[in-house]
Amino acid sequence: MTPDEFRRHGHAVIDWIADYHSRIESFPVLSQAKPGQIRASLPANPPAHGEPFEALLKDVETLILPGITHWQSPNFFAYFPCNASGPGILGDLLSSGLGVQGMLWSTSPACTELETHVLDWLVPMLGLPEQFLSSSTGGGVIQDTASSAALCALLAARERATNYISNKKGCDGRIVAYASTQTHSSLEKAAMIAGIGVDNLRLIEVDENFAMRPDALARQIEADKSAGLLPCFVCATVGTTSSNAMDPITAIAQVCRQHNLWLHVDAAMSGTAALCPEFRHLQNGVEFADSYNFNPHKWMFTNFDCNCFWVADRKALIQTLSILPEYLRNQATESGAVIDYRDWHIQLGRRFRSLKLWFVIRHYGVEGLQHHIRRHVQLAQQFAGWVRDDKNFELAAPAPLNLICFRHKAGDVANQTIMDRLNRSGDLFLTHTRLNGKLTLRLCVGQTNTQAKHVENAWSRIREEAEKIATVA
Ligand SMILES: Cc1ncc(COP(=O)(O)O)c(C=O)c1O
Repeated sequence: MTPDEFRRHGHAVIDWIADYHSRIESFPVLSQAKPGQIRASLPANPPAHGEPFEALLKDVETLILPGITHWQSPNFFAYFPCNASGPGILGDLLSSGLGVQGMLWSTSPACTELETHVLDWLVPMLGLPEQFLSSSTGGGVIQDTASSAALCALLAARERATNYISNKKGCDGRIVAYASTQTHSSLEKAAMIAGIGVDNLRLIEVDENFAMRPDALARQIEADKSAGLLPCFVCATVGTTSSNAMDPITAIAQVCRQHNLWLHVDAAMSGTAALCPEFRHLQNGVEFADSYNFNPHKWMFTNFDCNCFWVADRKALIQTLSILPEYLRNQATESGAVIDYRDWHIQLGRRFRSLKLWFVIRHYGVEGLQHHIRRHVQLAQQFAGWVRDDKNFELAAPAPLNLICFRHKAGDVANQTIMDRLNRSGDLFLTHTRLNGKLTLRLCVGQTNTQAKHVENAWSRIREEAEKIATVA
């Protein structure tokens, strides 16, 4: 593809994306494709000869779109969001256009330095502690996902607790880590991969608001120590996945300090709310964290993938993950004057992800970002009010931000039926969880373009389906 052909096709692709976003509400939010349907429409073998670019774009329209669940639809209320924005998409495109691989500072100094700079910007933007700044003892790095960030935190905790011996000798089965019964499943996976073992990840009980109980945590740690085990790590969550519960970080941090455990704070979605000073109290105690992460790819308008991960002591992380083969040696590394981000995560190679984050922050500005987050929270709170006032529905958990957990009082079958019908209709997309043993519907407001009319329509469709059930019953 020559530069001129690239220019022409590139314009067509941008036009296609812009058109897609303008007509996104005309598609069923949840893809209606049946298993195997998309593959069946594709040729069995790759083309022997290159095809015209127009044919590729046409196939995206006819073959791929039917298999798309429209995460960027303003009627997408499922899971946690994975929102995006024009500046984010364009920043990502530029990253592809530059095509750099930023494993070392020397393999593209701008890739490293912009990342360090943007992550330093975010520290005061989110009210995070000074030790997370690169000018202090810590620093931030962009990871692909919160799962990878949790794994890196757990590995560093394991190494710190074993005096960096388990990297050499492997784990001896004595290392123990702690999360709550509501912690995201990525911690279980991290425990498997880090050689700690799922049985050695203690899932601490939660209180009536689904938040970790620090007294239960302290008791479990004491019991493990008495049994000769080696506790090393606790994960506290700001906004759990099921119900957006807020773990009491300050009280958990006190327990961690007492036993010298690594405290990781996972604020995957809800961390974005800290852009607004009025929501920062939800993560009080973060100043005691050894590591912290949030996903701009969830709620901060930065298209997937983009996770921001900070540590208070970068030496522990680097000592855990650094390996220097001869072929990567270079003067800049040896000088000690630069950051080589390959030492801050699992993989070696890395994309230029900070470009899209930089674009998003500069396009919206801090006040613009705050405006949109406040708007989402306000819409979600309005929805919570409607649920509260409806005699047939109830709230199933506190709703501190933009996730509302609710259910029809008629029970699990009714809730499942309402959700299935809504999702099949394509009008909106909701998902569920189970709280206190009961099937619970979740509505999360976080897509970039969701407005009052979309949330109003969601509530009216939910009530419509609920009325049909009442009529049948
Ligand atoms: C609290 C929490 N932590 C971690 C994750 C995992 O996120 P990722 O897909 O970035 O690994 C999620 C995903 O929803 C989450 O809600």
